[in-house]
Amino acid sequence: MGLTGPDGHDRRVSELCVMIGRELGMSPAQQLVVSRSGLMHDVGKLGIPQSILDKRGPLTESEWRVMKTHPELGIAILGGTGRITREMLGVLYHHERMDGPATRTAWRRPRSPSKRGSSRLPTHTTC
Ligand SMILES: [Fe+2]
Repeated sequence: MGLTGPDGHDRRVSELCVMIGRELGMSPAQQLVVSRSGLMHDVGKLGIPQSILDKRGPLTESEWRVMKTHPELGIAILGGTGRITREMLGVLYHHERMDGPATRTAWRRPRSPSKRGSSRLPTHTTC
């Protein structure tokens, strides 16, 4: 059972993070960071109402607003010590796109004009 579900999603995300990290030439230490981030990426869903998590069918606009807070809730959950780790940054930004905003946190990060138009990389879209 993963941190946020019994379906192994967290483990699969972690394994995919490591596979991508290897392809990008990350060191073993960097691969460990992305592995841990993958395991913890949705920990913020612990703060999302179960009625939203379990809802069958599309979420309403207000439910999506709540759902989109889970990366920041994850930081709140993990940040009790006041120390920010690289793994926590992975949790915070796990819905960000390489080429543009995906969630409400994206607007905080300045975009480089040279990155516009870059190829789109697959992102974690299942929340
Ligand atoms: Fe997520």
